[in-house]
Amino acid sequence: MSQHESTYKPGSRLEHWMDERLPLMRMMHGQFVDFPTPRNLNYLWTFGGILTFCLVVQIVTGIVLAMHYIPHAEMAFDSVEKIRRDVNYGWLIRNVHAVGASMFFFAVYIHMARGLYYGSYKAPREVLWILGVLLFLLMMATGFLGYTLPWGQMSFWGVTVITNLFSSLDSIIPGLGTKIVQWLWGGYSVSTVTLNRFFSLHYLLPFVIVGVVALHIWALHVVGQNNPTGLDIKTANDSVPMAPHAVAKDIFGLGVFVILFAWFVFFAPDYLGHADNYVQANPLVTPPHIVPEWYFLPFYAILRAIPSKLGGVIAMFSAILILVFIPWLDTSRVRSARYRPIFKWCLWFFFFSVLALGYLGGKPAEGVYVAWAQFFTVYYFAFFLLIMPIVGVMETPSAMPRSIAESVLGGSGRPTGAAAAPAKH
Ligand code: HEM
Repeated sequence: MSQHESTYKPGSRLEHWMDERLPLMRMMHGQFVDFPTPRNLNYLWTFGGILTFCLVVQIVTGIVLAMHYIPHAEMAFDSVEKIRRDVNYGWLIRNVHAVGASMFFFAVYIHMARGLYYGSYKAPREVLWILGVLLFLLMMATGFLGYTLPWGQMSFWGVTVITNLFSSLDSIIPGLGTKIVQWLWGGYSVSTVTLNRFFSLHYLLPFVIVGVVALHIWALHVVGQNNPTGLDIKTANDSVPMAPHAVAKDIFGLGVFVILFAWFVFFAPDYLGHADNYVQANPLVTPPHIVPEWYFLPFYAILRAIPSKLGGVIAMFSAILILVFIPWLDTSRVRSARYRPIFKWCLWFFFFSVLALGYLGGKPAEGVYVAWAQFFTVYYFAFFLLIMPIVGVMETPSAMPRSIAESVLGGSGRPTGAAAAPAKH
């Protein structure tokens, strides 16, 4: 992959000594300083770094919260209130963790949309993409488990509704679904036992995510980054070393993201949550509308769009799992939607459909809301199963630049001045 000479120079005697025995610094330098980055990356490429930041923030704040949290049905709700009121800076740590979950999902949706738009899932990045889908699943599982912990009304009823979905398997093998639900609950209802295991898994999964992120970035560094043109790096002119070029952009992007994050933490910490979760869980009172967190709403809408319970569960899981297959469903030889006139508009309508499903998922499952959810669900699946394979074959791509360098520098694509990267001859 390397298009540039290694610029790593061990300074101290210790660095020399280490470099001859375990060249860890040389490897890190090669992967995160010298690494050739396409010179035309836009700000959408800063979201991978932003996601890594979110993961670290969630783990650090989560570990501190776990020092004060009590996973017991009688004490969980009060222990969270105690964190907010009595623990030093507990209000801040709790707000950062709760808002952080939303920011993490906001960033991942942009990261995924970027991948879809520029065809980053296409060869040779299939494994990188599939690892991403696995990360998305792990994030969803972690978010779902975490939302249970404050033991408010939405926590309790959210778990009850979602775990109960497994009972739909009763319609295939009578009794099987109910057995699975009771096994998940650890009893005949959602209780302290359930809360304990959810807490344990909520603490575990972020570390599994760390492991999968390492594989994700490893896979990325084997095949190299895609870019807005979707063209491969062919000559040294097409790329710049990752540091300082891409790193500077990442730091600026992260700075803007942190301002938005801080605005929610300090001025609207509960805006993205649900008021009912400030009412302690009560198994005897069902809230009028049970809705998940905003980032699950599109999938919740798909679940409720299908009249049969089992059908809804299958559609909801398929909506996520179908992402695994898109490297092969998309038949176009052009990566970037920028040069795909028909596909581009189908993709924009797909993005609109997901937003519409998100809106409908928050509405009661009745009348016109269900009808629209059905329409957008059909489009969601048709986009992957029909549009991707068919449009890829029939559309004529628009004119493309010959190289990445030409797309930003025009003409010969030759860099001048400080933009010129040290090329390997
Ligand atoms: C914990 C969640 C995740 C983390 C920390 C993460 C991290 C990263 C990082 C650091 C990069 C390189 C910088 C960039 O291109 O933005 C990257 C690239 C990429 N990620 Fe992720 N990612 C996550 C989730 C996902 C998901 C859910 C998907 C898709 C389903 C995905 C697909 C990709 C792809 C295709 C690339 C290469 C993009 C390109 O070069 O055009 N990632 N990721």
